[in-house]
Amino acid sequence: MPGAPTPALLPYPSDLAEIAGLLARRVGERIRSLRDAGVDVAATKSSHTDVVTAADREAERMLVAGLLELRPDDGILGEEGADTPGTSGVTWVIDPIDGTVNYLYQLPAYAVSVAATVADASAPAAGSGNTHDGRRAIAGAVYAPVTDELYVAWEGGGATLNGAPISVSPEDDLSRALVGTGFGYTVERRTEQANVARHLIPQIRDLRRMGSASIDLCMIAAGRLDAYYERGLQPWDYAAGVLIAREAGAEVLGRDAASLPGEPMLIAGPRPLAGALRAAVAQAYAAG
Ligand code: IPD
Ligand code: CA
Repeated sequence: MPGAPTPALLPYPSDLAEIAGLLARRVGERIRSLRDAGVDVAATKSSHTDVVTAADREAERMLVAGLLELRPDDGILGEEGADTPGTSGVTWVIDPIDGTVNYLYQLPAYAVSVAATVADASAPAAGSGNTHDGRRAIAGAVYAPVTDELYVAWEGGGATLNGAPISVSPEDDLSRALVGTGFGYTVERRTEQANVARHLIPQIRDLRRMGSASIDLCMIAAGRLDAYYERGLQPWDYAAGVLIAREAGAEVLGRDAASLPGEPMLIAGPRPLAGALRAAVAQAYAAG
């Protein structure tokens, strides 16, 4: 295809992971200090509870400036509106604050998520690492500034937490599994998700709703949650987290065997737990 970069010209994923980690930490430290100075809602998005703060916007500007300086030919796609086409074949998918409601309420589970992705039309099969948005993360970092935890991964390089290798939980029985999930911002979506949760809770150890999808996926990677499912995620919520979870040994699934993870469903956990959770979630949706 004219203009498409050849794989040989793509940078090393480990170099991109270093950039992701550096920027996620730098911006995470900044949003933490902004939080200490006080935070107000700047605007609402999909519903009156879906908020954006001045810190979200400043953090995205910092990430974009850092990426343009270090990787001027790459594209950038961000939650707060960054949408820059690139020429290198790499697109950075960024969430300046994942867990904005936690940030507003001074709850610790918020993070900066930074992923380097490539379009991967050649291998779109489930299990290829491709997500529903047609991209595959090859490097990524999630930094949670309150706990000072930096999760980093690159394709084929494993996943680390503050430099130490991490891996998924050994749990293989759904009835013993601690499962994470999230709820969307609209009343309709939340009602549907509450019904699904009602069906699932009797089948599992318990359910956690942390409020940050990128942290949920890192919890899967670190074995601190056994499995995770959520409907309604956007690419910036999961781009880095999916790679980190996969590199820690997780299976990341879509709604069914033929679907890529992302929308309408993303499920993660060790094998065979992820598959068991997918079957239980499908049953819960069918039961309404
Ligand atoms: C949200 C969080 C939350 C998930 C929502 C996301 P935001 O991102 O990741 O855990 O349940 O679907 O929108 O709005 O805090 O960046
Ligand atoms: Ca988010």
